[in-house]
Amino acid sequence: MKNLIKRAAWDIYGAQHVVALTGAGVSTESGIPDFRSPGGLWEKYDPMEFMYERFIANPKRIWEMSLKMKREGDLDMAEAMPNQAHLALSELEAMGYLKCVITQNVDNLHQKAGSSDVIEFHGSLLWGRCIGCGRRYPSDAIDDKIDAGQLPPLCGQCGGILKPDAVFFGEPIPPQALQRSISEARRADVMIVAGTSAVVYPAAELPFIAKRGGGFFSTSVIEPSPNVGAIVIEVNDEPTQLTGKVSDYLILGKVGTVLPEIIAQLRELEREKGTK
Ligand code: APR
Repeated sequence: MKNLIKRAAWDIYGAQHVVALTGAGVSTESGIPDFRSPGGLWEKYDPMEFMYERFIANPKRIWEMSLKMKREGDLDMAEAMPNQAHLALSELEAMGYLKCVITQNVDNLHQKAGSSDVIEFHGSLLWGRCIGCGRRYPSDAIDDKIDAGQLPPLCGQCGGILKPDAVFFGEPIPPQALQRSISEARRADVMIVAGTSAVVYPAAELPFIAKRGGGFFSTSVIEPSPNVGAIVIEVNDEPTQLTGKVSDYLILGKVGTVLPEIIAQLRELEREKGTK
């Protein structure tokens, strides 16, 4: 692993535009369970419950489920604190290498760690949104509505139903997040993919775009990729769908250990070679 850490530091040191794609594995060391690992959320809850149609069919039921998940500490976003993985990515940005974090997580921990350019590809659970007029509400304002007996909570502007502002299955990715993520993936000459099983699309397509500028977005109207062939570095505690196919190499380990080690190696390299 030591050699791969050195290799990653070299690749980042030589890069012009580093982008990170993160998943739930980046937040497990903050006490938030991921989805598909043993003991993950989808072992305890049926993911089909989080289909957009199910919410539309019975919003009260989905709000009751999310309250239950909060009570049982499975969705405790407000109290969670960033871990060494989040802090390492924030430091990589401060060092001038990392241009943006594209996250599938809805926990705001990258922002809490100080990352300034975070694309919330699957939305955020720190907000709710009216499915009528689109107005957004911070989660504590929604908690007040629920405490006042409003279940489902309603929009004060149009009376519409509020929905947790995380992307449910079958719901489109927020257009601006999608657009920006595709163009960042295209611009990347190094993409760090950390803590994701890479089985959920279209997020899992982004490493393909970074690698080949291809994939199913290539035929869309988006401008052709300026550079093809980003180096895709995976950091995960198990091989994923990308391993050996799209990623150049996998550093097998805990993100809270590996990412800080890469930063330490990068700083050593800078001492030897000078900062960029
Ligand atoms: N260090 C390294 N890898 C880890 C760690 C850790 N501390 N903890 C977990 N992992 C790995 C797991 O082994 C797994 O490969 O991170 C990956 C997490 O994968 P998933 O649970 O599938 O989470 P994610 O890829 O983010 O899921 C994508 O699916 O359920 C939907 O919308 C939800 O955004 C989510 C999307």
